[in-house]
Amino acid sequence: MEFSYVNPTQIYFGKGQIASITKSIPTDQKVLVIYGGGSIKKNGVYDQVTEALKEHKWLEFSGVEPNPTMETLDKAVKVVKDERVDYILAVGGGSVIDGSKYVAATALYEGEGWDILIGKHSAKRAVALGAVLTLPATGSESNAGAVITRASTKDKLPFFSPAVQPKFAVMDPDVMKTLPERQLVNGLVDAWVHTCEQYLTFPTGAMVQDGYSETLLKTLYQLGSQFEDRDNDQWRENLMWSANQALNGLIGSGVPQDWATHMIGHELTALFGVDHARSLAIVQPSLLRNQLPVKKAKLEQMGKNVFGFDQSDDLAEKTISAIEAFYHSLDVATQLTEHTTDKTTAIDSIITQLENHRMVKLGESQAITLKESREILEMAVA
Ligand code: NZQ
Ligand code: ZN
Repeated sequence: MEFSYVNPTQIYFGKGQIASITKSIPTDQKVLVIYGGGSIKKNGVYDQVTEALKEHKWLEFSGVEPNPTMETLDKAVKVVKDERVDYILAVGGGSVIDGSKYVAATALYEGEGWDILIGKHSAKRAVALGAVLTLPATGSESNAGAVITRASTKDKLPFFSPAVQPKFAVMDPDVMKTLPERQLVNGLVDAWVHTCEQYLTFPTGAMVQDGYSETLLKTLYQLGSQFEDRDNDQWRENLMWSANQALNGLIGSGVPQDWATHMIGHELTALFGVDHARSLAIVQPSLLRNQLPVKKAKLEQMGKNVFGFDQSDDLAEKTISAIEAFYHSLDVATQLTEHTTDKTTAIDSIITQLENHRMVKLGESQAITLKESREILEMAVA
C-alpha cells in the first residue's frame, strides 16, 4: 500500500448550509455563478444563492447541459476572461460542476480547452471554484475529476487536475426534494458503480478500503431497497453522503482500480445519449462476467460481505446476478436498446470510438483490450 492522499474540499453538510457561501468566498472576489437548465430556479436554490451573495459582485451563466459540452462551456470561458472573474460558483449536479472545472482551467490557458482533455495541456492553474451540489451521484463536488463532451465529434473524455478541485462544497440534502425519480436512481447507481470500480478488482488485503467500500455498498443497497419510502431526511442524507464518499479519493487510495465500465459507458453516452449511470448498468454485469476469472476472489468477498451469501462454487456468478437484480429492482436496464442501427453496427461504432480514444487496455490489469470490449458488448448490446 503506497499512496499520497489529501482531500482539501471544505464540506458544509446539512439544512441551510447554502448560507455558508457568504463566508467561503471573500467579498472582494468577483463571482460567476454557473448552473444548468434552470431546476435551481424552481426549487429555491437560486434564491438562497442570491441571498448568500448579496454582499458580492456576481454574474451568472446558465444552460450547461447534462453531459456538458465544450461548445457551451467555451462561452462561459469567454465570460470569465472578459469580465475578469475571480471565483466560479457551480450550482448543480455533476454536469454543472464538471463543466465549471473545465471553465476554471481553460480560462487560465491561452490555447484550446480541449487540449486539456487530450492531454496536450496539463492544467496546473485554475480560477478558484466552489460548488453547491443539487444531485448526489458523481462525487465531483469534492474530487479533481471532470468529464467533458465535444458534441461535434461525439467525444466524451475525462481529465484530472488538483487545480480544479472545489475549495468548498455545500451539500444540503433538502435540495434533493425536487429531483425526478430517474435522477435519484441514477445517483444511486453511479455511486454504486464508483465503489465497485475501486473494490471489484483483486485482493490486496487492504482491510480499511475494503471494509469502507462494503459499508458504502451495503448503504446504497439498503437505500435502493427502501426506494419507495425515500421521502425522508435520513434517506436523502445517507444517499448524499455515501455518493460523496464513493468518489472523494479515499476508498481508492492504495488499491488497484478498474474504471473500464466507465470508459466503455462514456462511449454509450456520447454515441447514443444514454444517461451516465444507465450506461454503467448496461456495461458492468457483462464486463464482470467477461472478467470473472480474474475478479473471482473479490466477487466472492462482495457476495459474502455485501449480499450475505454463503460460500459456494457459483458464488461469484451469484454475486453478479445479485448486482444485476439490484439494477432491475430500480427499473434500470442492463442491456443497450437505445441504438437505432443493428447490433453489429452499434458495436462497431463503439469499438471505433474506444480505439480513437486509446481505450485499448482497460481495467486494473490492462487486460480489457478491444477484443474483450467487443466480447462484453456482444452481451451488453441488445
Ligand atoms: O440542468 P438542470 O436544470 O439543473 O437539471 C438537471 C439535469 O437535467 C437535473 N437536476 C439536478 N439537480 C436537480 C435537478 N432537477 C431537479 N432538482 C434538482 N435538485 O438533473 C439532470 C441531470 O444532471 P447532471 O448534472 O447531468 O447529472 P449527474 O450529477 O449524474 O452528472 C452526470 C455527469 O457527470 C459525469 C458524467 O459523465 C456526466 O457527464 N461524471 C463525473 C464524474 C466526476 N467528476 O468525478 C464521475 C462520474 O463517473 C461521471 O462520469
Ligand atoms: Zn460515474
